Amino acid sequence: MPESLFKISGTIEPPYFIGRDEELRRLTEVARSMNQDIVIISPRRFGKTALLHNLSNGLNKETTVAMVNCLGMTRYADFHEKVVHETLNAYEKKYGAGKRLLATWKDVLRKSITGAFKSVSKIGGSIADVGEIYLEFRESRGDRDKEYRLVEVTFDFLDDFAKEQDLDLILIFDEFQALSKFNGVIFNTFKEKMDASTRVRFVFSGSSVGLLRDVFLSEDAPLYQMTTRHFLDPIHEDMMKRYIEDRFEYGGFRITENALDSFWSYTKGIPFYFQKLGLICYSDLSLGKKKTVDEDVVHKAFDGMIDEFNLEYEERLSRVFSEQQQAILEAMSEKRFNRMSEIADKMRTSPSNISSNMNILLSSMTIGKDGDGLYYITDEVFRRWIKRIS
Ligand SMILES: Nc1ncnc2c1ncn2[C@@H]1O[C@H](COP(=O)(O)OP(=O)(O)OP(=O)(O)O)[C@@H](O)[C@H]1O
Ligand SMILES: [Mg+2]
Repeated sequence: MPESLFKISGTIEPPYFIGRDEELRRLTEVARSMNQDIVIISPRRFGKTALLHNLSNGLNKETTVAMVNCLGMTRYADFHEKVVHETLNAYEKKYGAGKRLLATWKDVLRKSITGAFKSVSKIGGSIADVGEIYLEFRESRGDRDKEYRLVEVTFDFLDDFAKEQDLDLILIFDEFQALSKFNGVIFNTFKEKMDASTRVRFVFSGSSVGLLRDVFLSEDAPLYQMTTRHFLDPIHEDMMKRYIEDRFEYGGFRITENALDSFWSYTKGIPFYFQKLGLICYSDLSLGKKKTVDEDVVHKAFDGMIDEFNLEYEERLSRVFSEQQQAILEAMSEKRFNRMSEIADKMRTSPSNISSNMNILLSSMTIGKDGDGLYYITDEVFRRWIKRIS
């Protein structure tokens, strides 16, 4: 089957995964040293999950890496189950079928309670310990007090397991913000346990940046100063253009310089958007005989793309931002770069009146500030959408 030209879902690996060499090198180095935990922060769609996947692929050659997606976890038991499952899964992937711990574990969980108790004790070690507590929880039919304990024993399990197997274990938590619904219980346990073990390290990532700020960055945040922070940028202009050009060429299309410039000005290198725009251009072209991607093609594709985000952006604008923050975004949407005084002028107020909300927007990475002190909306497609509706 021929490769599709662009990819916007599923696993992102080369040739669809580009750039990030420097990020991967730095993150690999920190992770490999096993003496610090990492948090990766960016707005939505900048490529965190793809980066984590490729980071994990690289690290897996030397250590055991488990990737846990926190989306959809609603109970402590979910957290426990996923973490144990993914840890055993990673272990099995690395050490092969000879060590079929995951299969045994799953098998145990399928059994009746009595049979299961017997089987876990037969496995012994850290798995027996964690298994017995999990089974007690099941036996109590989901008793809340017992369920809370599951969080703690999950961490103990990781530590015991790594020591017992004599391995370094890296746990990657994607969509970490989803754990906020546990009212800090999980975060506080993380805090308690994080430094206790030398054989287990954590990588956290998520996109609700406000939450990441509450959890990691502010001074009273539970995981304050316990992690090294990495902010993910969009893909560089040259790199993005080369990718777009190569992919079209691969499909037998030529793209003009102007069209490449349009790709850049519409997406500013945000990976999801340039892949999606590429995909739409390609499917538009496939309908006709045209073999050249010019500005018109890109322009039309972008019009279609921005419409697709109507609902999401509407909801984001009205739900996430206060009234004044919305007004700031509106004032900033007319052009890419803005002076503070211009924004205030447009709002018929003074810079000091909006500075506190500007700071909130900055720390949530909704807006950024460039080297010349000019402010811009980070998500360029969102900016163009706000401009359109204003
Ligand atoms: N390094 C990359 N090179 C090329 N395309 C990429 C890269 N990283 C991400 N993408 C593209 O962007 C899309 C979104 O990436 P990803 O899911 O990793 O973003 P995210 O930051 O995790 O988003 P969210 O915050 O919504 O979870 C991918 O499906 C892929 O199309
Ligand atoms: Mg993601």
